[in-house]
Amino acid sequence: MAEPKKLFIKTYGCQMNVYDSERMAEALGSQGYVETQTPDDADMILLNTCHIREKAAEKVYSELGRFKGLKAEKPDLKIGVAGCVAQAEGAEIMRRQPMVDLVVGPQSYHRLPELEAKARGGEKALDTDFPEEDKFEHLKSRPKAARGPTAFLTVQEGCDKFCAFCVVPYTRGAEVSRPVDRVVREAQDLVERGVREITLLGQNVNAYHGAGPDGTDWSLARLIWELDKVDGLERIRFTTSHPNDMDDDLIEAHGTCAKLMPYLHLPVQAGSDKILKRMNRAHTAESYIRLIERIRAARPDILISGDFIVGFPEETEEDFQATMDLVEEVNYGYAYSFKYSTRPGTPAAERAQVPEDEKNDRLQRLQALLTTQQRAAQDAMVGKTVGILFEREGRLPGQMVGKSDHLHAVHVADCPAPAGTLAQVRIISSGANSLAGELLG
Ligand code: SAH
Ligand code: SF4
Ligand code: F3S
Repeated sequence: MAEPKKLFIKTYGCQMNVYDSERMAEALGSQGYVETQTPDDADMILLNTCHIREKAAEKVYSELGRFKGLKAEKPDLKIGVAGCVAQAEGAEIMRRQPMVDLVVGPQSYHRLPELEAKARGGEKALDTDFPEEDKFEHLKSRPKAARGPTAFLTVQEGCDKFCAFCVVPYTRGAEVSRPVDRVVREAQDLVERGVREITLLGQNVNAYHGAGPDGTDWSLARLIWELDKVDGLERIRFTTSHPNDMDDDLIEAHGTCAKLMPYLHLPVQAGSDKILKRMNRAHTAESYIRLIERIRAARPDILISGDFIVGFPEETEEDFQATMDLVEEVNYGYAYSFKYSTRPGTPAAERAQVPEDEKNDRLQRLQALLTTQQRAAQDAMVGKTVGILFEREGRLPGQMVGKSDHLHAVHVADCPAPAGTLAQVRIISSGANSLAGELLG
């Protein structure tokens, strides 16, 4: 038998890219590839890229530069670019880096085996179409490889919201939802392979409206209740949500569905209504705060996380202060914050930009506040009993690590429970980035 070819995939960007990389590795597995952890012995290198901020996009070119030597040593090595930079820049990537053999956009992954064959044959292979078919349905998977206890499952892709700063509607295309039965089948398959926790993914996951078995469109809440019936699936999460798509059923599910974990990522981006309007977010600071109140009424201990952009065009010090006020009022358990990055082709790119030193200063102040809140939320867990799903062994002998219901990293010393166990743990201390706990019962 021929030696299997080796595939090295490097993933940037969001969790949807992580999911896509897994599926691409499976698809290329059916072409005789096995994964390798280093580019040095690879027959194919695939970069799954992100275009969200300038830094992320530029990283791809410096990374490609690093593979020049490898390619010179090994002319058979094929280099591919997938993901959102592939979609946004297409053939331009091959012009800038002629050693790239293959470019494939996020909606064309089911064509990867054909593209790989074309590249193997010495031709340049490019596909950045937005076809109608469900790419995941056409991505063949290896039979029943065992999995770790947690998995991502993409249920919705694309975005129709067109926030003025964001490339996603252009790189991922229009919003589409996968049908309920396919999602449920995939969840059952994951559970059979050892998965206990599934995070449902979508750029706008709570706008999910997949075709249900009864012929009507189902909401995300209805999909969650259907997944709740899957035996052996113990935990459900979903990300990322838009405030305007948080419907009553989904809020209620946080209070009534025991498998739905008490953590919600609900980006707001800014606290000034003027800026929110210019961002085309279609909600106000006040309506967001009221929404958080309703979610907390349904599930009082829920941990809220968010995304923020500072230095959006025309943001004044007063506007920034409104973001700080909103953060004070909401009190986040976790947060991601970014300096606004100009993205070609988006409406905000044309507007008056905030100077870099002001962006830096605002980011520092915002992050200081968010870090304090994050730390307080973590410290508040000390003394509490929380559910943990153990994921793997820790660095110390006998130690196990996992995530709490509230998504905190927790480690337990001298822990007899293997990975995949759900247990009750009492939190005994709070460290820099994780909690320590002791197993109960
Ligand atoms: N669909 C999600 C998140 C998409 S991108 C949502 O609607 O919230 C993830 C985060 O990246 C965004 O929430 C935003 O905070 C940040 N982001 C997107 N475009 C950006 C840009 N041009 N500059 C800086 N941050 C950006
Ligand atoms: Fe981007 Fe806005 Fe769509 Fe989120 S909702 S992906 S920030 S355009
Ligand atoms: Fe990046 Fe594309 Fe995700 S731009 S954040 S990889 S959808």
